[in-house]
Amino acid sequence: MTVFNLSAECYPVAKVGGLGDVVGALPKYLVSEGIDAKVILPFYDKIFTQTHTFESVFKGQSNLGDQSFAFEVLKESTNVLSFELYLIKIPGLIDRTEVYCYPDEIKQFIAYQISVLEWVITQNIKVDIFHCHDHHSGLVPFLIQYATRFDSLRDIPTVLTIHNAQYQGWLGWDKFNYLPNIDVSKTGLLDWAGCINSLATAVKCCTRYTTVSPGYLQELKTNSNGLEHLFYMEQQKGLGIINGIDPDVWNPNTDTMLAHNYSITTVKKGKENNKKALCTQFGLDDSKPLITFIGRLVLEKGADILPYIISTCLEHYKSEVSFLVLGSGEKYIEEALSNISISHHYNFFIGYDEQLSHRIYAAADFILMPSRVEPCGLNQLYALKYGTIPIVRSTGGLKDTVIDVEENNGYGILFENTTPEDAIQAIAKAITLYKNTKKIAALRKIAMGLNFSWNQSAKQYIQLYNSLITKL
Ligand code: ADP
Ligand code: GLC
Repeated sequence: MTVFNLSAECYPVAKVGGLGDVVGALPKYLVSEGIDAKVILPFYDKIFTQTHTFESVFKGQSNLGDQSFAFEVLKESTNVLSFELYLIKIPGLIDRTEVYCYPDEIKQFIAYQISVLEWVITQNIKVDIFHCHDHHSGLVPFLIQYATRFDSLRDIPTVLTIHNAQYQGWLGWDKFNYLPNIDVSKTGLLDWAGCINSLATAVKCCTRYTTVSPGYLQELKTNSNGLEHLFYMEQQKGLGIINGIDPDVWNPNTDTMLAHNYSITTVKKGKENNKKALCTQFGLDDSKPLITFIGRLVLEKGADILPYIISTCLEHYKSEVSFLVLGSGEKYIEEALSNISISHHYNFFIGYDEQLSHRIYAAADFILMPSRVEPCGLNQLYALKYGTIPIVRSTGGLKDTVIDVEENNGYGILFENTTPEDAIQAIAKAITLYKNTKKIAALRKIAMGLNFSWNQSAKQYIQLYNSLITKL
């Protein structure tokens, strides 16, 4: 079975957040189960593309409205990722350094989707399933059914995985002419609340959709940035499959990015050594519990309340705790975090740094995630694998993966609302917990022993694919 994974990100080629991690890992597991899972990504001018060899497998031509464009399909030559990786390159449009946030992003992703389909029909490539990840490939389920040019693909089942419904790929109807000729009676399928909405279109037109946790599947019906009614109407097509973690990348025993490797049996010493190294680098006192935040500094993650939480805790629990923040995003949040005075109880790194993130997961005692929305969340899973206790708001995937210490077999701290009060109360619990060295040692072992591997989740995707193929 050949599955085309269409995504904007794929680690280690291009990663902004968890989407990259998932699309870099899931196909490996599908391949090991006998599925021919390929990943087709827009081309980015990044270290991976600069340092690997690619062969040109197709050169084509298509149109965005009355503008024609040339594209090339490049294949990574050595299968270094354990699955086939293809990149769509369009000189001047899809050949840049960043993944998102260009003013002509709409054009980029439409051209990407059209190019993939054009390549498939021109070369008559065998595709059994189109697996679209988020809105960046959300028009594919619509285009294969209702664009006359791609008519030959209309019966191919489509799976949409929703990693984050906050971002929907909106475009004004004035951009309608970017799309190829379509059956005009179907234009309503593109619309949601007066504009073309790529994610809504995908939900309406896909064969099935999945969310990255069962909890998020339910949550979308009441909290999905305007699509609640749609998710309610389409709920029979939905399925929640929790993400896994990739032990090739995330394993404290083999992680080459760490100062000191450790396992479940050496976790105490291992974390101590990593903490010492990190605290020396950031001028922090390593005798205090170290609480970290790693992530995009956006409202969705509750990052806006971090500065207040940190300042208040530093005031109230003066010398009892240290904080280290790694992230980038909204300028006002970056500034507020930079304005808290640095001491041996607080430091931060504004930016994106993959190695530093690994070192923090290994060194920290707790990771704080006050997310307003968290479809799955990988940070808490990585943290657990590294023996770091999550302090999380009870929502979406966080609620599905973290059990509160006060429950049977619990290993984390949950709080109810994204408010400074709730988060500070949870931090107070963490400080108390840290003093109980026996309990902390036991929790770390429970955390590291949990199994959030991809094996189980990959099997659920395969079951889903099989159900769609056998239906034909
Ligand atoms: P999201 O995809 O919503 O950003 P996830 O928890 O699913 O959230 O995944 C975030 C991923 O991005 C994790 O791998 C995390 O370690 C990584 N990450 C986030 N911000 C940074 C950063 N500033 N530097 C390094 N890695 C980061
Ligand atoms: C999204 C979500 C995050 C999830 C990730 C991978 O970016 O915000 O919660 O873990 O996708 O599925």
